[in-house]
Amino acid sequence: MSKKIFSGVQPTGNLHLGNYLGAIKNFVDLQKDKDNSCIYCVVDLHAITVKQDPKILKKNIRETTASFLASGLNSSKSIIFNQSKVPSHAEGSWLLSCVARMGWLNRMTQFKEKAGHDKEKASVGLYIYPVLMAADILLYDATHVPVGEDQKQHLELTRDIAQKFNTDFNCSDFLKIPEPLIQKDFSRIMSLRDGTKKMSKSDPSDQSRINITDTKDQIVNKIRKAKTDSKPLSENVSDLEGRPELKNLLGIFSSLQNQDLDVSTKEFAGKNFSELKEKLAEVLVEKIHPISNEINKLLKDYKYIDKILLEGSIKAEKISKKKVSEIKTKIGF
Ligand code: TYM
Repeated sequence: MSKKIFSGVQPTGNLHLGNYLGAIKNFVDLQKDKDNSCIYCVVDLHAITVKQDPKILKKNIRETTASFLASGLNSSKSIIFNQSKVPSHAEGSWLLSCVARMGWLNRMTQFKEKAGHDKEKASVGLYIYPVLMAADILLYDATHVPVGEDQKQHLELTRDIAQKFNTDFNCSDFLKIPEPLIQKDFSRIMSLRDGTKKMSKSDPSDQSRINITDTKDQIVNKIRKAKTDSKPLSENVSDLEGRPELKNLLGIFSSLQNQDLDVSTKEFAGKNFSELKEKLAEVLVEKIHPISNEINKLLKDYKYIDKILLEGSIKAEKISKKKVSEIKTKIGF
């Protein structure tokens, strides 16, 4: 069955292994199927829900685009663009925010985590962030959305918004109800310093994550220092419960090798952590280092990157403008 794919990544600093294995690697796999039409967005409007330095934001938009291309996305097969270039996203977001309910947004765990203790000081944008995400997806009639586990709740909200719009305006099937595509075993890559915490750009310790632009030495060092426990490696996947660091390292290894977690678990059964770490560092360098080399090459020619974004935004604008216009007609404008 042909799929309409839409996904986005925020341009907020270096992408890390969680972004790569949880999302971008899947974007590339989906692009390989000729029946799919794929749209991948650098979601810069989402990035400004927290304060950004304008010069750094501009650099990060190009860097995230370069990471897409270096990982294997191809602008002749997929539409690649940045959200702020396509005004329909902001317009669609307003229209849908009048359908979304406060009670739904109040349940969003990511807002609670990001806003921290002092919710009063969080931007209104951070609060309504999931509505913009719903607009991103619904304006392109996306049927499938590849994301990491942490975005599952936002996808459920998107589905609720679409369903309510269709009911309120008596137009069943007008806004398409999208399905999340979440990688089974590797949907949540965890911190290298604490296997119970998500690998994240906002963790103050750089040792907690592998950045897609890390050097070989940095990768080897971070894996060497990654937290472990003191037991030999488990024999079975079921024994990984309660051993979050081991599960994470084996998960990363499996995802990079495109093999099931139980195959990797058997491969290292009874061995020491040092053997797993050595092999994992080797595979990481082999897979990640060419991407970081390519990013550096691409960043030397930012005009090329800007051209890709401009061409992508023209295509995206054409599709989303039509949908916004249809939404407005349904509403009565
Ligand atoms: P963002 O920019 O935080 O993350 C981009 C993608 O990376 C995934 N991810 C992870 N996956 C596994 N393990 C991790 N530790 C990890 N950290 C991040 C995220 O799940 C995501 O898929 N709101 C979204 C961006 C967005 C979007 C959209 C996504 C805006 N509009 C429309 C899909 C469709 C976000 O902030 O992702």
